[in-house]
Amino acid sequence: MYDFDILIIGSGAAGLSLALKTAEFARVAVLSKGTLSQGATYWAQGGIAAVLDENDSVDAHIADTLDSGAGLCDVDMVRHIVEHSQEAIAWLVEQGVPFTLQTAEEAGAGAASLPLNRDNLKPLHLTQEGGHSHRRIIHATDATGRAVFETLRDRALNHPGISLFENRLAVDVITREKLGLEGAGCVGAYVYCKEQEKVELFRARFVVLASGGASKAYLYTTNPDSATGDGIAMAWRAGCPVANMEFNQFHPTCLYHPHARSFLITEALRGEGATLELPDGTRFMPAFDSRGELAPRDIVARAIDHEMKRLGCDCVYLNITHKSAEFITTHFPTIYSRCLDFGIDITKDRIPVVPAAHYTCGGVVVDKVGQTSITNLYAIGETSCTGLHGANRMASNSLLECFVLAFGAADDIRARLATTPAVPDCIPDWDESRVTRSQEEVVVSHNWDELRRMMWDYVGIVRSDRRLQLAHKRIQLLEQEIYEHYRRHMISRDLLELRNLVLVARLIIESALLRKESRGLHFTRDYPDMLDVASDTVLAPPQSQV
Ligand code: FAD
Ligand code: SIN
Repeated sequence: MYDFDILIIGSGAAGLSLALKTAEFARVAVLSKGTLSQGATYWAQGGIAAVLDENDSVDAHIADTLDSGAGLCDVDMVRHIVEHSQEAIAWLVEQGVPFTLQTAEEAGAGAASLPLNRDNLKPLHLTQEGGHSHRRIIHATDATGRAVFETLRDRALNHPGISLFENRLAVDVITREKLGLEGAGCVGAYVYCKEQEKVELFRARFVVLASGGASKAYLYTTNPDSATGDGIAMAWRAGCPVANMEFNQFHPTCLYHPHARSFLITEALRGEGATLELPDGTRFMPAFDSRGELAPRDIVARAIDHEMKRLGCDCVYLNITHKSAEFITTHFPTIYSRCLDFGIDITKDRIPVVPAAHYTCGGVVVDKVGQTSITNLYAIGETSCTGLHGANRMASNSLLECFVLAFGAADDIRARLATTPAVPDCIPDWDESRVTRSQEEVVVSHNWDELRRMMWDYVGIVRSDRRLQLAHKRIQLLEQEIYEHYRRHMISRDLLELRNLVLVARLIIESALLRKESRGLHFTRDYPDMLDVASDTVLAPPQSQV
């Protein structure tokens, strides 16, 4: 049994930045279900959006975000997050993240003389991505996530107020309501320890879901294995509403190669002029959108899907060969070397690419400080739905949201810590007395495959009522089968993740069925037009389901 002030479930950008902020005044535990680096943060390439250039403005960043979000963003939330973008970058610089700096030539005469620090962000190099009308992406070459993660992780490892737990998978959060105790709110979580194959009790006055997205619901994804929507599923089972789950973002350019698993080719390549081409070399994006390759992601992914289906080809191609080899290897060293492993020299060859599931725009409904509908339960980062992304997230706004929401949650918890009662002693241990070890693990592996293939085929980039209804029927059967297996057997990581994924997949399908229009990432043949009035799809759980 463990006892902390704050339990943070997730060690990505959201979880680690919150831990570093709150460890100044509280005892903090951070969990990762695998190694600390297991989340999406480690793999982020392009960068973090922030208004730093003197020709750019907060209003321009807001306008671009609203435009990408296809009328569904929460304008107040967009303003709040964008207004804090400079502060987020200043904090990261202070932590020591090794961002890429402008070369002397890029900075212009005399400009590079003052060193980078939190009060002088001018030396940072800014790149460009889809949907952005200005250069405003701060990055560490093409491995921004790794640079951010490693810096924050090292800080957290050296902080006496932070305890980091690897290979600990939160099963469910615990609320007073569920235990029938007086009062309301979250008081901890049951956590599966892989090494000991047992469930431990983590008591905490505040619990924060920072457990990333759910793109593993799809067969092809840019995401690491951890993206199984655990936080969304836990929040739902605890009684929290979720919103806009139909908006799963497909990134247009994932490397297409039989031996490459989930390798993203950053949008920043297109930001630096790379073109999308058909197998015969024809450039096709200008026919779909006047912004060409830098149109928002939903438009580019749909255009690629359309062209691949029209021509019956397996992939399209991204071409950056117009840039010098020196430029390419300096700006995109990770992509250059990974592609070379597969025999593709991106300084000379076109890169075969396909769209893949990338980001969960919907999630647990929260306010500006990440507070959910349950007292003392917060959700931040990709797990949450703040209203920033609307119907389609703009590139590099996700990491920004992780930091700004973490800062807000930290301030809120600080203000409430002294008046939040201690966790009661009477929380029961996990009860395993009625389950046995499974002899039928094939049920788990089969259902994993079936679920992800079905989501790809029936709930993908272009949808129809018929396919969504078929998917809904199948998912209910799968859910029943998986819950039955869960009730009878001792748990494992695969089983817990599958239980979460099947629930989140059902929420995606049900949300998609409710939306009778095409907007942003949700495109359906049956309702190809966008309605005049934009509204969120909010689902609320019938009751606590644990
Ligand atoms: P994550 O970084 O995904 O971390 C989740 C954490 O939760 C992990 O530690 C995981 O182990 C833990 N966890 C999950 N479930 C449990 C559980 N049940 N119990 C215990 N721990 C659990 N966004 C940008 O803004 N810019 C980019 O350039 C960019 N590039 C990207 C490139 C790729 C390849 C991908 C996949 C995403 C990219 N994104 C980018 C999106 C962005 O990286 C993510 O949205 C963001 O990193 C999410 O951070 P997070 O802290 O919410 O979650
Ligand atoms: C990319 O680098 O293309 C990904 C950026 C993002 O998802 O925001």
